[in-house]
Amino acid sequence: MKKTFVTLGIISCLLAGCQNKQQETPPMCEQQENQVVATIMARRSIRKYKPQPVERAKMDEILKCGINAPNGQNKQSWEVRVVDNPVFMAEIKDAMAKGHPDMDPEMIKGCFRGAPTMMFIARARSYDFSAYDCGLMAENMMLSAWSMGVGSICLGSPVRFLTDNEACAPVLQKLGFSEDYELCLCVGFGYADEAPAAKPRDWGKVKYVD
Ligand SMILES: Cc1cc2nc3c(=O)[nH]c(=O)nc-3n(C[C@H](O)[C@H](O)[C@H](O)COP(=O)(O)O)c2cc1C
Repeated sequence: MKKTFVTLGIISCLLAGCQNKQQETPPMCEQQENQVVATIMARRSIRKYKPQPVERAKMDEILKCGINAPNGQNKQSWEVRVVDNPVFMAEIKDAMAKGHPDMDPEMIKGCFRGAPTMMFIARARSYDFSAYDCGLMAENMMLSAWSMGVGSICLGSPVRFLTDNEACAPVLQKLGFSEDYELCLCVGFGYADEAPAAKPRDWGKVKYVD
């Protein structure tokens, strides 16, 4: 009898543990053959890059995919600046470090994750959905990049480091966004020098409601 209680206790503990764990995504089925699905499932954020920037002709293709993203009322409420000049990138990193004298400069400079081609995306302040437009644009570019063998990383932290201090005003000005626009997202591109594993996803966040 005592043994039965102990066994039941162990089983219920294991079940409780399972409920706290993230629910795994169901296995892929025939969609694995679909190139778009395959690209979406294979993409990873890349945080280690080879030094050469992405060829501009390839970046043009990626940018074309970006501006063809769905966007609110087709307002295209974004502006995009691409920086692949290491001298200007160094200027930007120096300004960010200067703007945060209390922080480790190497940590600040590392927030671009070493991507040799950096994209700065600004949103129109006057349009309440512009941040979504920028996010959808960024995803189109990251997926198309991956399909062409180009790695990428979406970056929020440089936005904070660039916009919360006066020292970065000159480099922001040099990026030349229009008056009504503010920096919203950065996306780094380059050739991957690592092959990270997929991060787990929680299928439990998804429900069909009848
Ligand atoms: C809005 C946003 C901001 C992000 N900011 C950063 C960042 O500042 N630094 C970083 O290393 N990764 C950043 N990431 C990347 C996420 O950490 C990454 O997408 C997530 O861990 C899932 O991994 P995966 O992209 O490889 O699937 C950001 C992603 C998004 C969408």
